[in-house]
Amino acid sequence: MMFSFKFNLPESETPCEAEDDRPEEIIPTTESSELPHNDILKAQEIFPNDKIIDNIDDLVIKANVFSWGDLQIGHVLPQDAVTYLKEDGRIQNLDNNISLADDLHSDLVEGKYEGGLKVWECTIDMSDYMCENDVAMWKDATVLDLGCGTGVLGIAAMLFGAKVHFQDYNEEVIIGSTIPNVLLNLSEDDRTSIKTKCRFFSGDWESLQTLMCEDSEKYQYDYILTSETIYNVKNYKKVYGIIKNQLKKTGFALVAAKSYYFGVGGNIRDFEKYVNDDGLMNCEICWKSEGGIPREILKLTFK
Ligand SMILES: C[S@@+](CC[C@H](N)C(=O)[O-])C[C@H]1O[C@@H](n2cnc3c(N)ncnc32)[C@H](O)[C@@H]1O
Repeated sequence: MMFSFKFNLPESETPCEAEDDRPEEIIPTTESSELPHNDILKAQEIFPNDKIIDNIDDLVIKANVFSWGDLQIGHVLPQDAVTYLKEDGRIQNLDNNISLADDLHSDLVEGKYEGGLKVWECTIDMSDYMCENDVAMWKDATVLDLGCGTGVLGIAAMLFGAKVHFQDYNEEVIIGSTIPNVLLNLSEDDRTSIKTKCRFFSGDWESLQTLMCEDSEKYQYDYILTSETIYNVKNYKKVYGIIKNQLKKTGFALVAAKSYYFGVGGNIRDFEKYVNDDGLMNCEICWKSEGGIPREILKLTFK
């Protein structure tokens, strides 16, 4: 089965092998404990805009393409997010949290912009892992890409036949990157299927959990994918809480992360201990890096 198609990109931007836009480390510039509680972004659903659906080919001038065998996934460039935000028109103040991160030359600014515009290293690991394992399991599955950023993992699941819910902290990321990326990976005739195959949410995980609990049966997933989201110790409870409450008893969650995050303190052993201490789920290492910065993928299943 082929999952790839030709992207409508200029000659110079034809598909290339997965490139590295990988951060060395995460250094937050704000402690979230300093943020008043009402500064935390409220969860909301974001619906794809017909203007973007109709005009995506004209809007995307440049994109990167990752290749995994037959699977190719295109994603727009972080600096072009503003183009899609302008076309969408919903966010009036483009002098927003993302430009703040840009001004600070930072990969993320805690509680304001959580790094969703770039493709992080562990997403590449998890995409490799997904392609190397049984891809048939994604067909007709319901999937949550938690902390999706560009949405590469959810897009891979979608191309393998899943229905996907994408979630990112920032609505600017969902509108300026995730939605354009999903559209870029659907063939021209199939673009409107974004409305039936996918749903999009922004806001803080704590607020997302409240939103999902209000209608919990609608938010039960066969698989939950999350990459580079446990970099902050404060995230363990929120990420694990969503996995524990929204994963079907028969399903599994994959958590890809660096073994240790310098400057923030999150690390995979502490997250593993956090899950084990709760006693409800098994947590096994299903993949480990062999070189470079130590990275792992954990698989969580119910006992
Ligand atoms: C480092 S980025 C990783 C993005 C993407 N998963 C990847 O691997 O390329 C962390 C992601 O987690 C999300 N995130 C971080 N803290 C969050 C929070 N408190 N609530 C909701 N989302 C959050 C951000 O929006 C961001 O997309």
